[in-house]
Amino acid sequence: MEFQTNSKIETVKLGNKIGALLKSGDILILEGDLGAGKTTFTQGLAKGLGIDDYVKSPTFTYVMEYRGIIPLYHFDLYRLRDPEELYDLGFEDFIDQGGVLVMEWGSLVEDMLSNDGYEYIKISLLKTGENTRTVKIWDTPKGQSLYKELSR
Ligand SMILES: Nc1ncnc2c1ncn2[C@@H]1O[C@H](COP(=O)(O)OP(=O)(O)OP(=O)(O)O)[C@@H](O)[C@H]1O
Ligand SMILES: [Mg+2]
Repeated sequence: MEFQTNSKIETVKLGNKIGALLKSGDILILEGDLGAGKTTFTQGLAKGLGIDDYVKSPTFTYVMEYRGIIPLYHFDLYRLRDPEELYDLGFEDFIDQGGVLVMEWGSLVEDMLSNDGYEYIKISLLKTGENTRTVKIWDTPKGQSLYKELSR
């Protein structure tokens, strides 16, 4: 389940397409090095969720909320020391509120989430050139249903 993008705009467009398919309570783990395009992709997700605000990296706040028909909670977990801290950030409340949760550096909490019984979508971005990226949707159950919907 891989896509290639050849510009920032194409990554935003792919994010937009995927964002439009996300549902209340979805958790999306974003993986990829510094500058891979996680925030760029999230800008597209927000558009797809009908959010017009400009999405920027929430590094210093850990989480930003954007109001749309479905609220978007955009996490940047780069500075997280312990996966359990995710709960201190209000993670469960955001799910109860029916939000979509997107986590840059979400691999840091992946094991904890699966141990705690959460289903999630995992997407990685890999820089293959100055302007090219490989975007991979991992084979989790939620990732598979997303992929089916995308290929319709
Ligand atoms: N195909 C592409 N897709 C996404 N971004 C691209 C692409 N080509 C070039 N870029 C550039 O790469 C950079 C990606 O930055 P972005 O902030 O989205 O990365 P990030 O993964 O969120 O980084 P960080 O780990 O620092 O939060 C931007 O400057 C963007 O213009
Ligand atoms: Mg970022």
